Amino acid sequence: MKLLHLDSSILGENSVSRAVSAAIVGNLTKADPSLEVSYHDLAAEALPHLTLDVLGNPDGTPELAEFLAADVIVIGAGMYNFTIPSQLKAWLDRVLVAGKTFQYTAEGPKGLAGGKKVYVALSRGGYYGEGQPGAAVEHAESYLRAVLGFIGITDPVFVLAEGIAIGPEVREKALADALAEAGALTVPA
Ligand SMILES: Cc1cc2nc3c(=O)[nH]c(=O)nc-3n(C[C@H](O)[C@H](O)[C@H](O)COP(=O)(O)O)c2cc1C
Repeated sequence: MKLLHLDSSILGENSVSRAVSAAIVGNLTKADPSLEVSYHDLAAEALPHLTLDVLGNPDGTPELAEFLAADVIVIGAGMYNFTIPSQLKAWLDRVLVAGKTFQYTAEGPKGLAGGKKVYVALSRGGYYGEGQPGAAVEHAESYLRAVLGFIGITDPVFVLAEGIAIGPEVREKALADALAEAGALTVPA
């Protein structure tokens, strides 16, 4: 099985989502050492914005081919300005492709990429869970659930680290909890 690991945080060594996504991959590969891992740092090697040339290329993109070939995808993302990093959006723009990962049918849109297991390590400065004042402006987890669902991935697993900007103690506990959660994940069958 192939595992595609992506990071998109701009914060390098100080990134929480990078630490958590690495822990998820570490746990999955420990449980199944035969997993073939490929890694992309979307912040260090940023994809350009989508253009008509890229969209119209009948051969698709290397990102789409790699996504289609992957069985497991692990995404690290921080919440930036209430949504995902634009580097990750540029990658998604190459993966949501009509006829490849979704199609429109008489019954409406249909996802074609079901069957992949997706894990998202998402880190947020504040609190955006149900009932929190920030919930209405949460456009990172909700957006990722929407786009993944649109292409047929309806059961992504989110490992959240929240309150990272509140202070060092809250950050430390949120990171430790997320790392523990990552370490307890089971390998997809
Ligand atoms: C450019 C930037 C924008 C941010 N915007 C938000 C925001 O809108 N809401 C929030 O709760 N935290 C925000 N934060 C805090 C990050 O969500 C938090 O630091 C998180 O840990 C980022 O993930 P990372 O550490 O993997 O980069 C922002 C941080 C940066 C650097």
